Parts: sequence; structure tokens; C-alpha cells
Amino acid sequence: MAKPTYQRVLVKVSGEALMGPGGFGIHQPTLDRIALDLVATKTLGVELGIVVGGGNIFRGMTVSQQGIPRVTGDMMGILATVMNALALESALEKAGVEARTMSALAMPEICETYERRRAVRHLTKGRMVLLAAGTGNPFFTTDTTAVLRAAEIGAQAVLKATDVDGVYSADPKTDSKAQRYERLTHQEAIERQLKVMDATAFALARENRMPIIVFSILAKGAIEAVLRGEGRSTTVSG
Ligand code: GTP
Repeated sequence: MAKPTYQRVLVKVSGEALMGPGGFGIHQPTLDRIALDLVATKTLGVELGIVVGGGNIFRGMTVSQQGIPRVTGDMMGILATVMNALALESALEKAGVEARTMSALAMPEICETYERRRAVRHLTKGRMVLLAAGTGNPFFTTDTTAVLRAAEIGAQAVLKATDVDGVYSADPKTDSKAQRYERLTHQEAIERQLKVMDATAFALARENRMPIIVFSILAKGAIEAVLRGEGRSTTVSG
């Protein structure tokens, strides 16, 4: 059996991934399947921090185009990430792994507040930690949150789970000529304006030499495969 390369990673799960075949919210069988995929990594002994997006419930950018101020829209999106984190926390615990949600914004009646050392303590105790509420600030995406938290907790990589099997030169869903990359540097991703993550997230990853591995969450067992250095993915590194 191939030895896992990583001891601790940060998995970014998009909010949309939780919608499954639906167009909104949380599709319970999909949530349970993603939780099982995350739990399957336990056998590799890799510690997991998890950042979940909120786009299945709310997109700040979209509503701001319709009249709600951008800052308010972003804060509503932040609340959506907390809802998703709590849902995934329940699914992980149902699947037999201890999990803790920690929010960047204090909401003590709902979950723990993010504190780096406490997050690391949970991880070393074998708990999965869901890092909710983004960075706690408007104008920052959950991709940026994922890179930030990965650097803070000492993760060796960000695993970005999306609905395509890597990074392409254009959107492969709309452009049949889109080329898939096997490897890229952070700088190339920024210069080519690849849409897989925003430039802030890539820049932070570049500064911290944080590899980002992009893969499809639709393939069952994909997270474990990536951790084993198998499966289809694109690695963005320095
Ligand atoms: P260890 O001491 O590391 O084993 O951590 P622990 O999380 O088991 O201990 P603690 O007594 O801090 O937490 C017990 C339970 O309370 C856990 O489910 C925590 O997630 C929860 N908890 C801790 N702090 C808060 C908080 O500020 N708000 C909420 N809502 N729950 C909290």
C-alpha cells in the first residue's frame, strides 16, 4: 500500500457539491456520501481540516447584483457556510468520526469559535475540524479561507474538491477545446487567470508555498485516492 504523503491536509468542499442532483440546499444522500468519503481517509491516518462553501444556499455576489449591499450579501453567505458545516459535522459524526465546527465569527450558542491552537488540538485528538464562517470578513472567498486556515494549522496541502477532475484552460463544461493541466505553478494560475480559485487564494498559496490539489468530488473515494497520490487531479504548486 502506498504511504500517504501527507499528515494533515485541508479539504475544501464547495457548497454546490452538497446540492447533489438538486438545485438548492442540501441533498442528504450526497451529504452522507461526501461524509463517508472524508471518513474513509481515517485509515490513512491523515488529519483533516475542512472548509465548506455556502453557494448551495446563498451567493453574496449574486444578490449584491440585485440590490443587497455586497458586504451584507457576503455576511449572509458566511452564515450559509455555518449551516453547511453543521450539516457536514452531523453527517461525519453519524458516520462514526468525531467532528467539531469552529466559526470565524463568535456564535457560542451554536459552535466553538475558531482558535488556531484549539483547532490543532482537535486534529491531534483525531477529530475532523470544520472551519466555518469563512475568514469572518466580507470580500474573501472560502477558497481564500481554505488556504489561510491550511497555512495556520500547518497543513501540507489544500485539497480542492470541485465538480471537474482538475484545472482546465477554460471551463470544460462550456468549451470543448479546454485543455486539462496535470501540473501548474501558482504564478501560472494567476497569470492565466484560471477561474478554479480566485487570485487572492492563489497569491496566499504562492506566498506560503501551499500546494493546491484540484479534483472531482463526484468520483466516489476521490479524497482517499488523492491522498494516496492516485486518481485524476491537477496539482498547483510553487
Ligand atoms: P478536549 O478538551 O480537547 O477533549 O475538547 P472537548 O471539545 O471535548 O472539550 P470541551 O469541554 O471544550 O467541549 C465539549 C463540547 O462542547 C464539544 O462538543 C464542543 O464542541 C462544545 N463546545 C465547546 N466550546 C463551545 C462553544 O463555545 N460553543 C458551543 N456551542 N459549543 C462548544
